[in-house]
Amino acid sequence: MTKKKTVGILTGGGDCPGLNAVLRAVVKKGVITHGFEIIGILEGWKGLLESKTIPLTLRDVSGILHRGGTIIKTSRTNPFKLKDGIERIKRNIQELGLNALIAVGGEDTLGVASKLFEMGVDVVGVPKTIDNDLSGTDYTFGFDSAVNVVTEAIDRVHTTAESHNRVMVVEVMGRHTGWIAVVAGIAGGADLILIPEKPIDIHALNAAILKRHSRGKDFSIVVVAEGARFLRKPEDEGTLILKDQKTDEFGHVNLGGIGNLVAIEIEKGTGFETRVVILGHIQRGGSPTAFDRVLGTRFGIAAVDCVARGEFGKMVSLTGNKIVTVPLAEALAAPKFIDPELYEIAEVFFG
Ligand code: F6P
Repeated sequence: MTKKKTVGILTGGGDCPGLNAVLRAVVKKGVITHGFEIIGILEGWKGLLESKTIPLTLRDVSGILHRGGTIIKTSRTNPFKLKDGIERIKRNIQELGLNALIAVGGEDTLGVASKLFEMGVDVVGVPKTIDNDLSGTDYTFGFDSAVNVVTEAIDRVHTTAESHNRVMVVEVMGRHTGWIAVVAGIAGGADLILIPEKPIDIHALNAAILKRHSRGKDFSIVVVAEGARFLRKPEDEGTLILKDQKTDEFGHVNLGGIGNLVAIEIEKGTGFETRVVILGHIQRGGSPTAFDRVLGTRFGIAAVDCVARGEFGKMVSLTGNKIVTVPLAEALAAPKFIDPELYEIAEVFFG
């Protein structure tokens, strides 16, 4: 009798809704159709460094589709930061008897996967992040859930802004791109949207708010992405606003707080009372939307099918409405910034 193929799966980086949908799909199709044994590697790359795993059977993934987060946990561990990290990973892959690996994550987790593939590990990537900033796929799962949380928050902020004749600044995540801000801003009817791709000209911003109020509106909603910066001069696009001075193992800074500065500038420049809401990790919590459940499911099925075909070094991707595969290295070559056409649509409603 031939030995069952053993496939390891891990979730790395910031969690997001839809991760459990991927796990469920990989196990269902992997076990039932392909006869694989699936092993869950705990806490992303940390679990592979420390050989911390759990079996993932059909029973383990039952009832998890609607749950946010990830049942196999996550971390921002970078094995390339350790002197013997890659050696340990390769040794543990062998000792655990893993024939292939499915890595579910954003640019960092998939960056490690891509390098490991070049070193001979059979790996497939699944694109996850609320930021939607990965090239090589039109959408990452988690993004739609975050956008829905932000849209609801903007709706709620609208009624209180209107009652008090206030300007409300809503700060959202998205790292160095404005996807969440622009899509949720359009959906929530934001009056201005500030994103990393377009440094903030505070005079133009205040002029737009004043113009809007001179037309009889007595409140405004300003959505600002955490990675937005103030334009100082045309040649100086300002500095990032950070929560603290820490960086993670991939060198990322802790963004946050730009909303407070924008609010101060607006109040100073317009005289309108201004309040700030920083949505933070609420955007990553809770149940996935139907879209993310379906996208996570489609990605999970496609990834385990890649393993069955022996197609490695690839990332599954949503291109148009089809699930395709793209080389990991290509998908990670550059971040995906906001589509300028989408921003132009948002701009129609500014001021
Ligand atoms: O990449 C997802 C994300 O939520 C970003 O939008 C945000 O900048 C970052 O992660 C926050 O990371 P942490 O959960 O480590 O604070």
